[in-house]
Amino acid sequence: MVKKNTCVFISGQGSNLKNLIFFSRDNIFPIKISLVISDNKNAYGLNYAKKFQIPYLLINTRSKNYENKILSNLKKYNISFICLAGYMKMISNNLIRIYQKKIINIHPSLLPKFKGLNTFNRILKNKEKKTGCTVHYVNDKLDGGSTIIQKSFFIDKKDNELDLKRKTQKLEHRAFPEAIIKIFSQN
Ligand code: GRF
Repeated sequence: MVKKNTCVFISGQGSNLKNLIFFSRDNIFPIKISLVISDNKNAYGLNYAKKFQIPYLLINTRSKNYENKILSNLKKYNISFICLAGYMKMISNNLIRIYQKKIINIHPSLLPKFKGLNTFNRILKNKEKKTGCTVHYVNDKLDGGSTIIQKSFFIDKKDNELDLKRKTQKLEHRAFPEAIIKIFSQN
């Protein structure tokens, strides 16, 4: 099997990156993580790129030419698929156009509910009974592309924001690899 060269974009902790690295080491998993891009030089997730000797690129989204820097590196590493895993910036329309239906994101809610930031706080305030995570294609609308996979759980009355985060991330670590397998088994 020829694995798709994949770039993972991160901004922070990188637990989803770590999990995808773990899965991608399996011969029959459809992607190889060939590049990691972070907009945050202090992102803990960069340690996983270093530990597993995956090339990584730091970008400064305030600098003028950062988009070109991204594009030239995606080309350099022959990237054909992109995973956003806790990347806190919007992807440019240009990149979305070039990588049409080739960019996916993971979001900690049952989209279309609770798009954007601060999800756990809003979920609790809204007294939701259920929550979960969504893996979806990226389009030009915030958390707006079509859904690939959702996983959910029932919220316990005692759950606080941290509990929701912990339970959601546990599901994310199953949902992201499952979504990738689903995409490439359809192609
Ligand atoms: C995840 O909960 C994801 O849903 C959201 O950002 C978080 C990233 O976590 N988009 P990590 O950096 O992968 O640990």
